[in-house]
Amino acid sequence: MRQAKAYKAKQFNLSGLQGISDKTLEMHFKLYQGYVKSVNELNEKIAEMLKDGKVDQDEFPAYSELTRRLGFEYNGMVLHEHYFNNLQKQGAGKPSTDSNFVKAAKISFGSYDLWRTDFVGVGKMRGVGWAICYQDPNTGMISNYWITLHEIGNISGFIPILVMDVWEHAFILDYAPADRPKYIESFFANVDWNAVQKRLSTKVVAPAA
Ligand SMILES: [Fe+2]
Repeated sequence: MRQAKAYKAKQFNLSGLQGISDKTLEMHFKLYQGYVKSVNELNEKIAEMLKDGKVDQDEFPAYSELTRRLGFEYNGMVLHEHYFNNLQKQGAGKPSTDSNFVKAAKISFGSYDLWRTDFVGVGKMRGVGWAICYQDPNTGMISNYWITLHEIGNISGFIPILVMDVWEHAFILDYAPADRPKYIESFFANVDWNAVQKRLSTKVVAPAA
């Protein structure tokens, strides 16, 4: 029988962020909890369909739709956990210059500032999705990607290092839709660089030149 772990929504203590209101966070936590609930429900429904050992022809359209949605909901759950986890009340705004993150940015982009320009640029792109900085576990290089919705554009096997939600729900209570750049600046003001650093594999980061 197909077994799926039932996920529990995590708690995040983030009230009092700079430029991202508690109201936004409360609404955002509820959305996140919805993804967790959907993942559990989809897993249960798919397990139910597999119970008799086959997917009947008449079950196939529903089975296909549930399975496609699983990727969307699952990534919605996981990316929100990464996002909330890389924020903190008194964020440093910038990683320390001798940190491994800055070293990785220098190796990959020449400078932290150019990495930041690229990440912010990705975050400003039109559309509904995420800006994510990943590390290639094979080379240690970091690179930034646009993810449409939650699941289109994720790089298989790459490790998400810094995750920024740029769906409008992430900022619409605090900023006008055209003011996404202001939200991005607020996001940076609240980044927990220690949490970001922990995701970074130090083994593969060569010393800065
Ligand atoms: Fe979100």
